[in-house]
Amino acid sequence: MKNDLRQMLHLEPQKGWLNDPNGLCFFKGEYHVYFQYAPESAQGNGGKCWGHWKSADLLHWRFTGTVLFPDSPDDRNGVYSGSGFVNGDTLYLFYTGNVKEEGDHDYTTSGRGANVILVTTKDGHNMSGKKTLLRNCDYPDYCSCHVRDPKVWEEDGKYHMVLGARTLDDKGCVLYYTSKDLVNWEFEQEKRISDGSYMWECPDEFVVGTKRFLSISPQGLKHEKYTSQNVYSSGYLDLDKGTYTEWDCGFDFYAPQTFKAPDGRRILIGWEGIGDIPYTNPTVALGWQHCLTLPRELTLSPDGRLLQQPIRELQALRKESAKLTSGETLKAQLPFEITGTAQAEFTLEFIDVLRLKKSGSEFSLEFINDSAGCGRTVRYAQLGQCEDIRIIADKTSVEVYLNGGEKVLSSRMYPDSTELSLRSDGVDAVEYKLDGIEVISDE
Ligand code: FRU
Repeated sequence: MKNDLRQMLHLEPQKGWLNDPNGLCFFKGEYHVYFQYAPESAQGNGGKCWGHWKSADLLHWRFTGTVLFPDSPDDRNGVYSGSGFVNGDTLYLFYTGNVKEEGDHDYTTSGRGANVILVTTKDGHNMSGKKTLLRNCDYPDYCSCHVRDPKVWEEDGKYHMVLGARTLDDKGCVLYYTSKDLVNWEFEQEKRISDGSYMWECPDEFVVGTKRFLSISPQGLKHEKYTSQNVYSSGYLDLDKGTYTEWDCGFDFYAPQTFKAPDGRRILIGWEGIGDIPYTNPTVALGWQHCLTLPRELTLSPDGRLLQQPIRELQALRKESAKLTSGETLKAQLPFEITGTAQAEFTLEFIDVLRLKKSGSEFSLEFINDSAGCGRTVRYAQLGQCEDIRIIADKTSVEVYLNGGEKVLSSRMYPDSTELSLRSDGVDAVEYKLDGIEVISDE
């Protein structure tokens, strides 16, 4: 069947442009996913807004519409990224109001206002008035005008906020603020490592098990064969060790955010896209662009690394299964899932579309056909033994989870047909046909 390019498992806008997930939380019995949204332009033009989906079970979603617009002096050029904090019966949303002054400016050292703004909501959809909490003059002197993406949490009887920043001498860092009332914030400290970046976007500090991590999306890292293969990177600092690990080695991943589910799980959702990419997405011609990743549960491996797995709720979407045995070919209908056991070296091919290959300690995801890759070529991940492989393929994307989620590769892909032929050489797997999630729209 011809592929109409509509995702069935991933949240994407009906029209317009999506980037970062924002304000992720569980509030009054429902999960809330806000996102950076340019409803009128699939290219992302015009002032950024926040769109809003909500769901009781992470499978049945409702799009309630555009809930925050760049309509005040302090956010007139964009309601940029931010986070949600549940305070009793009220959801507090913190975001960056982007302002571009008229005149001759470079918008890095002058001409840009980066305001931390608070709105509150009782139902997730209807917003209070906007209150500006921090302005450029409240950031350390050494910061440029690029300071943004507040993430707020409570710990040790205080509220904490991290902001991503670019210093005047072009280094990426994170600013830490604390507050007793969620309204008045004081600068506390700064964190950076010398990683060669000029800007860190979308910081998020959180604990999994016994360990503390700081997720960042650094810009300006040197591109290497196995790391920072994309225009911008995204990963986490292990705050005990100071090491940086990328979240995802595929073509399309950036600006993730985490939140805590009511059962204690730490769930991550990323943007399955990146800004300023050299490759394309053919949905633009149809009026929309980009989607979010599947929600992923984060757990700690016995040796203290983070593992990512698609949330277990998605298993409810599994329908008929078929065996895919090494040496054989199987026809599969998108969307589908594959869970398999891999030999030391293997190749799994979506014939004419994509080749997944493990050779020595190198894993590669390579497009065979440029009409499916749209400029995407090959991405690598380095990993030792790889016993298990899990793939979730939607109509225009694939997420590959290796070794229990030790490495993940996410990519958009655009096969002409929703029927793919899979060929395995070295993987014994079960293939499940998947139902889609349900998304209804109030618009
Ligand atoms: C990351 C980002 C954020 C910013 C938002 C604007 O993709 O650049 O830093 O708040 O997008 O849409």
